[in-house]
Amino acid sequence: MAEALRVGIAGLGTVGASVARVLRDKAAELTRQCGRDIVITAVSARDPKRDRGIDLGAAKWFDDAIKMAQIADIDVFVELIGGDEGAARASVKAALEAGRHVVTANKALLSKHGVALAEIAEKKGVLLNYEAAVAGGIPVIKTMREAMAGNSVTRVFGILNGTCNYILTRMEAEGLSFDACLKDAQRLGYAEADPTFDIEGHDTAHKLSILTSLAFGTRIAANDIYMEGISNISQADIRAAGDLGYRIKLLGVAQRTESGIEQRVHPTMVPTASVIAQVHGVTNAVAIETDILGELLLSGPGAGGNATASAVVGDIADIAKSRPGFQHGPVFGLPAKELKPYKKAQMRSHAGGYFIRLTVHDRIGVFAAIAKRMADNDISLESIVQHADGPETAAQKKTVILVTHETTEAAVRRAVDGITKDGHLTDKPQVIRIERAG
Ligand SMILES: NC(=O)c1ccc[n+]([C@@H]2O[C@H](COP(=O)([O-])OP(=O)(O)OC[C@H]3O[C@@H](n4cnc5c(N)ncnc54)[C@H](OP(=O)(O)O)[C@@H]3O)[C@@H](O)[C@H]2O)c1
Repeated sequence: MAEALRVGIAGLGTVGASVARVLRDKAAELTRQCGRDIVITAVSARDPKRDRGIDLGAAKWFDDAIKMAQIADIDVFVELIGGDEGAARASVKAALEAGRHVVTANKALLSKHGVALAEIAEKKGVLLNYEAAVAGGIPVIKTMREAMAGNSVTRVFGILNGTCNYILTRMEAEGLSFDACLKDAQRLGYAEADPTFDIEGHDTAHKLSILTSLAFGTRIAANDIYMEGISNISQADIRAAGDLGYRIKLLGVAQRTESGIEQRVHPTMVPTASVIAQVHGVTNAVAIETDILGELLLSGPGAGGNATASAVVGDIADIAKSRPGFQHGPVFGLPAKELKPYKKAQMRSHAGGYFIRLTVHDRIGVFAAIAKRMADNDISLESIVQHADGPETAAQKKTVILVTHETTEAAVRRAVDGITKDGHLTDKPQVIRIERAG
């Protein structure tokens, strides 16, 4: 049997401790599958005294993850510290430069420094595996990088943040407010004490930037993502979406268009009958649309110790099975130096259907004025409905809901600005994009 694969784990928190547990509990299966043992020979975390609920056996403790990356007797450095700078970045860089394979679950790091790290990995002839960085336990990286050779991706989109999907699911199912659902998510450990990163779309954007690079062979461009979170989604939106045959999801979408590549994260209406609309709670999903395959949807657990450990262990096993010259190819599908600069499509040129909810003064002529602003901007309407007062619509106010046929973001913004200037609105207008989904 080949020599054992020696693994060093930096970070023994939720994911790191789970990885150590899976490697121990599944040691026999892994040895059979990989043709060699996988042993943890080194570990690092901040607090050497913390009980992590797992016996790390003879693994050598390192206070300094960077040192561990450089000098420990390891073949694979597993980074589960988190963060886009500091010890995570420095230790991954050090491990690659020392010629060690790296496995990481760190989307923040990859979305910022992924291409530079890939260049080092490719120069050194080592693997940089990151399955757990996007959609946790769902094997989307492997699918896109390996199983879809020859396919040209036209669009990739997904539910990439479990916290947001949990909140939107409960708002719809139980009629609760955003704030009430967020509080519950925090109580259950699905949302951080400071949830901004999740609910305003940053976490989704990090993951989307990695998928975009894999899908379109471009350099990762996380700063060029249009981003809107879910904090201004109300019960009025959820109910109106339901009445119209839609469900609201926070989607990350990357799409090739004539003017470049769109990368956008925003609340999105998808048809209630579509497969992605059936993805509830903390579950994640990624849809990949290609010229050969058509649309593929992968869904499953996007976070949590075990689900994430499943992806990390899969990455470690791939390294155990790899032989020089028989690896899975470049980190982002193409050699890092061949990744093209990302050509951004302007959000104003985004084409699609729109849902517009307006709260207006209850007076004569408002309806006609709204319709005129739409017509002036060449926006064709699928429907325009004036609603009877809902619970949130006080006396003297009416709700007008418009659904457009395909138009552009620029036209919708001009029309809504015009309506706002006309002075008919009592509240801020709500605009939600509609996404085609099978
Ligand atoms: N949690 C999930 O569901 C999930 C899902 C997908 C991806 N991820 C990614 O996985 C990574 C780890 O997440 P997590 O949830 O496991 O985080 P976590 O529970 O906060 O664990 C972080 C670990 O890193 C250690 N650490 C912090 N600074 C360090 C340093 N300078 N040197 C060495 N170790 C250090 C901590 O040590 P102490 O324990 O001693 O404080 C802790 O063990 C992140 O990149 C995250 O984005 C997580």
